[in-house]
Amino acid sequence: MTDIRQVVHELLAQLGSSREARQYLKEFSSTNQARFAMVKVGGGILLDHLDELTSALAFLHRLGLIPVVLHGAGPQLDQALAEAGIETQRHDGLRVTTEAVMSVARPLMYKENLRLVEALENRGIRARSIQHGVFQCAFLDRDRFGLVGEVEKVDLDAVESAVRGGAVPVLTCLGESPSGQVLNINADIATRELVWKLRPHKVIFLSPTGGLLDRQGRIISAVSLTNDYQALMQQPWVHSGMRLKLQQINEMLQNLPDDTSVSITSAAQLTRELFTYRGAGTLVRKGEAITVQRSPDSETLAGVIRLVEQSFGRTLRNDWFEQLVKPLVLSSESGRAAAIITHGIDGLPYLDKFIVTPEAQGEGLGAAVWQVVRARFPSLYWRSRNTNPITPWYFQQADSSNRCGQWVVFTLGIDDALQRERCMADALAHDSGWVAK
Ligand code: ARG
Repeated sequence: MTDIRQVVHELLAQLGSSREARQYLKEFSSTNQARFAMVKVGGGILLDHLDELTSALAFLHRLGLIPVVLHGAGPQLDQALAEAGIETQRHDGLRVTTEAVMSVARPLMYKENLRLVEALENRGIRARSIQHGVFQCAFLDRDRFGLVGEVEKVDLDAVESAVRGGAVPVLTCLGESPSGQVLNINADIATRELVWKLRPHKVIFLSPTGGLLDRQGRIISAVSLTNDYQALMQQPWVHSGMRLKLQQINEMLQNLPDDTSVSITSAAQLTRELFTYRGAGTLVRKGEAITVQRSPDSETLAGVIRLVEQSFGRTLRNDWFEQLVKPLVLSSESGRAAAIITHGIDGLPYLDKFIVTPEAQGEGLGAAVWQVVRARFPSLYWRSRNTNPITPWYFQQADSSNRCGQWVVFTLGIDDALQRERCMADALAHDSGWVAK
C-alpha cells in the first residue's frame, strides 16, 4: 500500500496536475484488470527505445495497471534477412513468408520477445513471455503468401492467466495452424484480432513519431471519426501509411464500445498521454455527433445551461435563453461541449457562448464543435475575458482581435474595418445573462 501511494505521488509530481491524473487512474483502475489497455509496440521501438518503453510499462505496472503488450519485429527481420541473403517479397503489403524466411523470423521473434520480457524483469516487474497458443490460424493463401496466417480464433487463456498472476503478458505476432505449423501474422492484423477479442478500454500504438502528423509535421492531437474521418481521408497530405492506419483504426473502433479510444504516442510520452486531459500524442475516438438546433428540446437546453453555469461558476437568469435573438444551439451528444450563436449587429452571427469541459477538450470535442460553427458561419464575432484559459486559442482561430480592458473581441471573416468596429462596440456592450453577483 505504501508502495502504491509512493508511485501515485511520483506520477502526480511528474505531471503537474493531480486532479487529472487521479481521475484517469480511477477510470483505468475501474475496468476489469486484463482490459485496461492493449499496447502495440512496433519492432523499431524495441530497437531504439527499449529503455523508455520498459520504464513506461513498469510505471503502469507499479500503479496496478497491467497492459497487454504485442510486439512486432519488422525492421529486425528486414535486417536479418538481408544479412542472410534471403530476398523477401510482399504482396498487398503482406510479407511472403517462405520456409527460408520463417527459419529466420521465428527465432528472431522469440529473441525480441525475450529481450522485452527481460528488460521488464530487470526493472523488477513481472512479465510473461507468450509466444504460442493465442492466435489460432488458417493459411491465408499458402501458394501466394507461404507461411502467413489468417487469424481464426483468439484464445485469451494465457493472457488472462498472466494478468491474474500480476505479470505483463508479452505477445509476438506468431500463430499456429491446427496441426501446429507456426505462421507469421501481419502485426496490424494481429493487433486488430486481439483487440476485438480482448475489448480493452484503451488501445495504444507506440510509434517513433509519437502520433499522426498534420501537413506541417505537427502531431494531430485528436481525431473524431464521426466528425473528421471523411475529411481527413480526402486530404492530399495524408500519405499512404497514415491513410492505412486511419482506415484500420476506424474499422477496429466500429466494432467496439463507444468509450474505447485509441492513442498513438511515443514510449517516452505514454504516461503523459494516459494521465492528462490534453495528452501527448493522437487520440482517436468514434467521437460524438454534434447536433444543431434552432429550438432545442428542454433536455438539451437544461444540459447546456448546466454546462455553462458549471464551467463559469455562475448562475444564469431564468429568462436568459428567451432573451437571446434567434439563438442556434450546437451541442455534442454527451453534453460536454456546446456553442450558442445569436444574431448580432448588422445581422452578423455572434458567438454568445462556447463551452467545453477540460476532459472533452483533450478528446477534441471543442474542435469538433468549432468546426461545425465554422462550416455554418463564414463570418463571426465574439468576446472573451483576458483571463479565460481559452483566450489564447481564440487568438489562433480569429483573424482580428482587439483588447479592451478585461475583454478581447475577436472577429473572423469580417473584412470591413468599420463593421469590425461596430462588432467590437456591440460585443463589449453585450449582456452575458448572469444573475448579478
Ligand atoms: N488521458 C486521456 C486518455 O488517455 C486523454 C488523452 C488525450 N490525448 C490526446 N492526444 N488528445 O484517454
